Amino acid sequence: MFEIKYRDAMGRIGIFDVNGKKITTPLILPVINPRINKITPREINEIGFQGVITNSYIINNDPVLRERALKEGLHKLLDFNGLIMTDSGSFQLFRYGRVHVDPVEIVKFQEAIKSDIAVILDIPTPPDVSHERASRELQETLKRAKASIKIPRKNFLAGTIQGSTHMDLREKSAKEMGKLGFDIYPIGGVVPLMENYRFSDLTKVILHSKKHLPVEKPVHLFGAGHPMIFAFAVALGCDIFDSAAYALYAKDGRYITSEGTKHLDNMTDFPCPCKVCSNYSPKELLSLSFDERTTALARHNLYATLAEINLIKESIRNESLWGLVQRRARSHPALLDALIHAFNGYSDQILRYNPVTKKSAFFYFGPEALKRPEVIRHLERLKEIKKRAENLVLLPDQEKPYADHYGIKSGSRFHVCIASPVFGIIPLEVEEIYPLNQHERPENLDADQIEFMQKTVKAYSLDFKKTYIHEDLETLKIEGESFKDTDFVEKGDDNLKIRSMADYQFGRGAGDTLFMEARVEFARTGRIRRVYSGDDELLATVRASDGFLIPTKKGATSLLKLEYPRNRVVIGDPEVCEFVKDGKSVFAKFVTECDPEIRPYQEVIVVDKDDILLASGKALLNSNEMHAFERGIAVKVRRGAED
Ligand code: GUN
Ligand code: ZN
Repeated sequence: MFEIKYRDAMGRIGIFDVNGKKITTPLILPVINPRINKITPREINEIGFQGVITNSYIINNDPVLRERALKEGLHKLLDFNGLIMTDSGSFQLFRYGRVHVDPVEIVKFQEAIKSDIAVILDIPTPPDVSHERASRELQETLKRAKASIKIPRKNFLAGTIQGSTHMDLREKSAKEMGKLGFDIYPIGGVVPLMENYRFSDLTKVILHSKKHLPVEKPVHLFGAGHPMIFAFAVALGCDIFDSAAYALYAKDGRYITSEGTKHLDNMTDFPCPCKVCSNYSPKELLSLSFDERTTALARHNLYATLAEINLIKESIRNESLWGLVQRRARSHPALLDALIHAFNGYSDQILRYNPVTKKSAFFYFGPEALKRPEVIRHLERLKEIKKRAENLVLLPDQEKPYADHYGIKSGSRFHVCIASPVFGIIPLEVEEIYPLNQHERPENLDADQIEFMQKTVKAYSLDFKKTYIHEDLETLKIEGESFKDTDFVEKGDDNLKIRSMADYQFGRGAGDTLFMEARVEFARTGRIRRVYSGDDELLATVRASDGFLIPTKKGATSLLKLEYPRNRVVIGDPEVCEFVKDGKSVFAKFVTECDPEIRPYQEVIVVDKDDILLASGKALLNSNEMHAFERGIAVKVRRGAED
C-alpha cells in the first residue's frame, strides 16, 4: 500500500511496501539487460538506487536464462536482492511490431520468476494514430488487463494506460484500468513524445490520465529516462520512472546533465563531482577503449540521474518544487512552452493537489510564474472576500508590509489594494497571508506582468463604484481617478481586516460568522497576533510564518455555523472519535465524509456523524485522497475537543 509522506505541486514523496521492501518514491529504476550488464544491479544499488527494471520477455526467449530464472528466481539470476520490476515485451512490440509470447503466459512467467513488479503485455499505441486504431488497440489492452488481473499473484502487477494522443481514450483507459485494481499504473505509449520534445502533449497525456486514475496508487511514466524532465513529471504526479537513457546515451558518447546531454567530444571539463568525473578528464575518458569509456560514462549518467531525483526530493520537502520545474523549463524551449501553455484547462485539477501554504517563498523568475497554481489560487480566493466598501483604492507595489509602508488600511468606504505585478491584486487586509507576503520579484517589470496586472485590476474594479489610482500607476495604464496623497483614505478598521482574512482562508461568509464582534490583539511587529470574541474568549491565533488563522476550540465551534460539510472532515466510528477528541491525528481510513473542496495543508475541523466538534487541525490530504487512501494521516490534529 502507498502512503504520502511529503508533497508539493501534484508531486509527492511516498512510501510503498513491495514484498516487504520499503520503497520511497519518486523512484527511478535503471534498466538492466538480463544478458549483459557491465554495471551490475548490485553496483547500481550501491550508487544509491533502490531497484532496477529488466525485461522478462528477453529472459523468456532465451532458453538458458529462462531455465535459470524459473529454477533460481529472478533475484538470484541478477544477483540482487533489492527491488526488481520486469517489463513484459510491450516495448519490443512497439519497436518491432510483434512479439512471440502469449499475453497471459508472460504475466504468469513474471510471477513464476518472482519479479517484484510485473507488467501486463499492453499494446503501446504511438501518438497521432487514428482514433479507430487507438481505440481498437486499447480494447485489446483492456482485454489483456482483465485476463492478467485474474492470475493468482503474490507480487505487484502494473496495468498500463494507453490511448495514444486521444484524450477521450486516455480517460477511458484510466477509468477502466482503475476499476480493475492494479497496484501501479504506468502511463505508456509516450516514448515518441519525449524523443520528439513534445512536452506539451506529454503534459496533457499525464494530466488527463492522472485525472481519472485512482489517487492512492503510484503512477509510473514509462520510458522517461532523461533527468531533464523528471522534475516536470514529478510535479505532474508521476512517482516511478525507468531509465535506459543512462546506458543508451553512454553508447553514443553522451554525458547526461540535469539540463540536457553533452557530447564527450565537445567537453573539456566535467561539471560534476561524481566518482567518474573526479577521476577522469573528458580527454582521458576519450583515450580509453570503447567499452571502458562507455561503462564509465554510463556510471556518470547514473550519478547524474540520481542527483536529480535527490534534488527533486529535497525540493518537495522544502516545498519549492515549482521553482525547480521553472528552472528546468529553461533548459529546453519545448519544456518552457509546456509550462506556460499545457496547464490551461487543468488548473482545477492542479489546485486540488497543490498545498495551500508552503515553507518556501514564491520567487518570480519569469512570465511562466503567472501561471503558477499559487497565482491562480489567489485569484480564486479573492472572490471569497466579501465586498465591504464601495470604492477601490489602488497603490503601486512597493515595500512590504504594504499597510505599514503606506500607513493606511481598508475601511468601510475604501477597499485598499496593491496593483501587483505578480498576483494582480493584493487587498491590504490579506497581505500577510501566504503567498502574498512571501514573494519576491525583480524590480523591473516585464510586459507579461504589466498586461496581467492591467487585466486583473480591470476585472476587479468592476465591483466598485469608483476606482482611485495612485498617480504612479498612470504610466502602467491602469484606469481610475488619479491621486497623489492617501490623506483622503479613512483610518481603516482592524475588525474588517480580520473578517476578510477569514473569508480568504475559510471561504465566503466565514469572516462574519467567526469574527463579527471580534477584537484583535497585535504583536510587536504590528501584525495581528490573536483574535478574541466579544466576551473576550480566544477564537484564533495568526500563524506568523504564513498569516493563516489557527482556530481555537471556541473558534472551531463557530466554524460549525458554516453550512455542512464546509471545512469539515467527518469520522463515523465512535471509538476513533474518542481518540481524536484526545488530540490523536486522523488516519485517512477512518474518514467517512469530508468537504469536497478540502486542499492539502488547509485548516479543517473534525466532527462526528452528528456534526459535533472533535478536533481541529491541518489537512495533509485533499478530499479525494482522504476517501481513497488506506494508509497515512488525513488530518494532523492540533487540538482535540477535550485537550
Ligand atoms: N516501455 C516504454 N513504453 C512502454 C509502454 O507503453 N508499455 C510498456 N509495457 N513498456 C513500455
Ligand atoms: Zn559525473
